[in-house]
Amino acid sequence: MSDLDRYREVITSFLLSLVPSRGLLRGLVGYPLGAVADDGDPGPGPGGKLLRPSLVLFACEALGGDPERALPLAAAVELVHTFSLVHDDIVDGDRVRRGRAAAWVVLGEHQAIHAGDGLLALAFRTAAGAALPERKTACAVEALASATLAMVEGQAWDLELEGRPAATDEYLAMARGKTGALLGCALELGAIAALRDELALAHRRVGEDLGIAFQIRDDWLGLWGDPTVVGKAVGSDHARGKRSYPIAWALERDPSLARFLRDAPLAEVQARLAELGAPEATEARAEELLAQAREGARNLPWPAWAQAEFAELCRGLSARVK
Ligand code: IPE
Ligand code: IPE
Ligand code: MG
Ligand code: MG
Repeated sequence: MSDLDRYREVITSFLLSLVPSRGLLRGLVGYPLGAVADDGDPGPGPGGKLLRPSLVLFACEALGGDPERALPLAAAVELVHTFSLVHDDIVDGDRVRRGRAAAWVVLGEHQAIHAGDGLLALAFRTAAGAALPERKTACAVEALASATLAMVEGQAWDLELEGRPAATDEYLAMARGKTGALLGCALELGAIAALRDELALAHRRVGEDLGIAFQIRDDWLGLWGDPTVVGKAVGSDHARGKRSYPIAWALERDPSLARFLRDAPLAEVQARLAELGAPEATEARAEELLAQAREGARNLPWPAWAQAEFAELCRGLSARVK
């Protein structure tokens, strides 16, 4: 995806080392992390983009810190993210995640709830094990807990808004929580690991803007993406009455569309939204937030290489297809 891919190997091996080697927890926690396949054999490894943990290591390095020291925090944020996806697929009724059967399809809904619980506990145990000086570990754990709470509230808002005449400003507040919080936390944790916690808040804000843009692009992919590339369902948002960005945008213009958007087949919904200009409006909003994130990043004391990599990441995210 970007230069941040250089962190992939170290994050993957650290994450896989955290999976319990035996017992029921091995399958529960191991399946969503790709450590274990659905038949108990070794799995394909974490299938996601590892964006959040990569951002932790990137921010730490950009501030002159040692990324090795940030690794437990990077893994912890990815574990919270994976937990959120396991529960999210239950709640959204989506059967495919990262190109594999969703955890609840393989484990059953009830055990998938336990899988999520296990991932969350593992996340906090891992974060607490980060060996940062001067009580900075406690500061990092607190940041992760606050972001997790904001994410959970965002997820709850996502459900509350289903079927409602939501406007784009409500959408943006919801997305700031459900997706902005963890991306914001990723950059924040990098600053804390680099022992520059006076910069934590500024890093968090940049990550939040990046996160909202990321979610808006995700919503675009949920309507116009290629399911074989995205690795998850396309077309399930509108069927559930989800207020994804293109739908909230269209409803703001014409509230009478609500029933049509819910009941019509995907191809008709895609065509109607395209007629209204929703794909372009969605892309434009994501671009605006990415520009805001880049502007925020320009005010951070990052060296030129980090500014260039972040700009490249933003360009990649605005056109991402998975
Ligand atoms: C998926 O996040 C959920 C959203 C916040 C849109 P990612 O697209 O980062 O998922 P993975 O980790 O790469 O699978
Ligand atoms: C993404 O939820 C945010 C979280 C999981 C916290 P969505 O439901 O919008 O994302 P996908 O499309 O299932 O990945
Ligand atoms: Mg979902
Ligand atoms: Mg969801």
